[in-house]
Amino acid sequence: MATFSARTHLALPWLLLGVILGLSCLIEKVDGNREGELNIREFDYFKLALQWPGTFCKSTRHCCSKNACCRGSNAPTEFTIHGLWPDYNDGTWPSCCSRSDFDPKEISTLVDGLEKYWPTLSCSSPSKCHGGREKHGTCSYPVIRDEYHYFLTGLNVYFKYNVTRVLYEAGYVPSNTEKYPVGGIISAIQNAFHITPSIVCSKDSIKELHLCFYKDFTPRDCATVSSINIEMVTSKASCPKYVSLPIHVSSGRDGFPSLLPHD
Ligand SMILES: *[C@@H]1O[C@H](CO)[C@@H](O)[C@H](O)[C@H]1NC(C)=O
Repeated sequence: MATFSARTHLALPWLLLGVILGLSCLIEKVDGNREGELNIREFDYFKLALQWPGTFCKSTRHCCSKNACCRGSNAPTEFTIHGLWPDYNDGTWPSCCSRSDFDPKEISTLVDGLEKYWPTLSCSSPSKCHGGREKHGTCSYPVIRDEYHYFLTGLNVYFKYNVTRVLYEAGYVPSNTEKYPVGGIISAIQNAFHITPSIVCSKDSIKELHLCFYKDFTPRDCATVSSINIEMVTSKASCPKYVSLPIHVSSGRDGFPSLLPHD
């Protein structure tokens, strides 16, 4: 126990650095060009993309300080935030709308919450602005005016719509053996929030669940087929009839996962 605490203590600065690096990929510094910015059409709606750690962490092959899958018994066990994405109704989305540089100091008061509820679940380097999906925070302007409010809003919406609780109360509990009808999972969300989410699977495991919102954050249905982006299609966008919510099994020792499936 003492050893584990000591390790945790030593790892903390690195975890923080990891969070900062992870976040800096969300709002990336690009060569701001005011004239260029004016050409970017304002988005139509928000998508809160939640990721299921049990599925994401299955693909952890090696560990690094920024990967929350590697936190041993402290690894996340409920849906966490992947992103709050401004989207267009036609299924596309704006990117690289940067009007200001990302400043880690602006979100220093949110770091604990972000580390817990908006963690990075991989060790791969953040993708660059061109082609990356994660650079979209600044595209929320002018609805969300700055970096601090972008992350604060993401957390608040996440707390308000607790998908993990809704599924749990409907009997869809995390399990490595049970399979659940995907229609039942969608119905549970519809009954709780009166909107239709979109779901992304990896094989027969739920990988992501998306909730959509108008610009004033009243809930709305997510667009259907067209809302699925290329990266997700390659990771198998369509779900089978029966899906699982797997539990990430971690040894807790040194924070390394004990299961390293080859899939
Ligand atoms: C969601 O609900 C579950 C079950 O009630 C609870 O354990 C968890 O802390 C909640 N998550 C958030 C982010 O509020």
